[in-house]
Amino acid sequence: MCGIVGYIGPQDATPIVLDGLRRLEYRGYDSAGIACARAGAIDIRRAEGKLSRLEELLRCDPLSGAPGIGHTRWATHGRPSETNAHPHKAGSFVVVHNGIIENYLELKERLRGQGHHFCSETDTEIIAHLIEQHAKEGADFEGAVRKALGEVRGAYAVAILCADEPDRLIAAKQGSPLVVGQGKGEFFVASDIPAMLSHTREMIFLEDGELVVFTADAMRITTLAGAPVAKTPKIITWSPVMAEKGGYRHFMLKEIHEQPRAIADTLAGRLREEHSSVFLEEMKLDEGWLRGLERIYIVACGTSWHAGLVGKFLLEKHARIPVEVDIASEFRYRDPLVTPRTLTVVISQSGETADTLAALREAHGKGGKVVAVCNVVESSIARESDGVIYTHAGPEIGVASTKAFTTQLVALVLFTLHVGQVRGTLDLQTRRALVDALVGLPRKVEACLELDGAIEKLAHELFHARDFLYLGRGNQYPIALEGALKLKEISYIHAEGYPAGEMKHGPIALIDEDLPVVVLAPHNDTFEKVAANLEEVQARGGQVVAVTDRGAGELAAKVDTVLTVPATVDELMPVLTSIPMQLLAYHIAVLKGTDVDQPRNLAKSVTVE
Ligand code: AGP
Repeated sequence: MCGIVGYIGPQDATPIVLDGLRRLEYRGYDSAGIACARAGAIDIRRAEGKLSRLEELLRCDPLSGAPGIGHTRWATHGRPSETNAHPHKAGSFVVVHNGIIENYLELKERLRGQGHHFCSETDTEIIAHLIEQHAKEGADFEGAVRKALGEVRGAYAVAILCADEPDRLIAAKQGSPLVVGQGKGEFFVASDIPAMLSHTREMIFLEDGELVVFTADAMRITTLAGAPVAKTPKIITWSPVMAEKGGYRHFMLKEIHEQPRAIADTLAGRLREEHSSVFLEEMKLDEGWLRGLERIYIVACGTSWHAGLVGKFLLEKHARIPVEVDIASEFRYRDPLVTPRTLTVVISQSGETADTLAALREAHGKGGKVVAVCNVVESSIARESDGVIYTHAGPEIGVASTKAFTTQLVALVLFTLHVGQVRGTLDLQTRRALVDALVGLPRKVEACLELDGAIEKLAHELFHARDFLYLGRGNQYPIALEGALKLKEISYIHAEGYPAGEMKHGPIALIDEDLPVVVLAPHNDTFEKVAANLEEVQARGGQVVAVTDRGAGELAAKVDTVLTVPATVDELMPVLTSIPMQLLAYHIAVLKGTDVDQPRNLAKSVTVE
């Protein structure tokens, strides 16, 4: 959480840093701040609330100069306020930070004893004071930063300015993401690629324990201990336009509508239709090892975990391997039974989620191999895994994940095809059916998007409800969970996802005429059972919205509303039924007037534990 940006070069830093922060606001948006160096001084502006508040402040009280650094915050230590907003300053040193310093209390105590006074409740402020202390003891800017960072424990991505050396910007990383953008005679540094995309596509991904010293025309990367590190920039294929709203009212709506394209891109070059097989370029796992595989763990958080739950159905059915799906924050602390013949599949849109990254390291530490399903190229999770399947969804800015989710589902089908192929558990006919269905998927997603108008109308009927229940069975149960999560996070309505067959064991007591119940009922093996559950809800006065395929048919007579998606193979149906879930949550949130793209208390990328 939190986003940092830095710029050094001949231009005025303020507009560049502000533009970068705007693109990082998905990482946190409870306060923001900026600092610019000019002839022996560093000016700082900070404001509580969204970036627009900082922009207002800068209109009345402008800032100029370069280098500059900026920050958009998601509060961890200390409530959202101007005082707690970054940058933080001690003496000549000004710091922005993403991450958490675990030993900050101990360091604060020590620094207090050395005469330092603190203005904020943040852990970050101690970094500035530590640097100041080392400078007092004789270190130069770079030396003081190295010494200070050597003393902190925890996670950080930092960008630091010094009023006494105003031609320098220093940045460093440990546990939080940091990317360097290389322009012509100028440099950028930021928590994520989109912050720099409108200036350069040449990016360098820093590793943990690396520090970079920028001057206007050069940069030097070293380890924290000072050993030189050679890096070659990578050219990023995302375009700046992909990170714009493109005429849509919200990023979320744009991203929902981008799904046919995102899915087509995720499939591109990976299907061998003539052989009914798949080709996964970055899946570097040895086929002999895959054949001897004993167990798969799928580990992720939030929406990505829901994709993992669908993955279990796919892999157990077609690769015939036991699969356990775990929430990353649980997995990492429960001593999982990973052996050298275990594959852990980590799923993450951002590739930076702290718990998922820790789970990956836990699996590696126990000698297992890891494959990542990831959207952000060269993110920490992608880089540390033994193999990657990139979801080519493009940048996802809306906090509520949509296109990242459906492309994760597609990537898991591709992965299942690959593993099933290698292990000989998938016959040609099934492979052909899956490959054909994948080819036709983007068009079917387009057809689902045509439900938009009907769902908007439905949202008008339902948006006053206080609670929602989502029911599904088999591979539709994770979609029920996902539908409930989407609604909760952007509309703030309480919602629960439940396996339809479990309803009689408790939740049926909740049903009355005020409770909308969304039932996922495509025509699969459990259709009749789900239809029976749906009648049980209806009989108790619940307001049912059924999502099915192949026409409303028999359901139309039984329930209040039927939303029909096109038919496809059961393995891909979760992709199609997700679309009405996303649209329903979106339209309800719009009617409730919430901040759809930046819902309260959330951040897109959870880089703290
Ligand atoms: C989904 O809408 C979320 N905002 C959230 O649950 C997200 O999926 C989760 O934090 C995991 O993120 P990741 O995929 O980037 O690891």
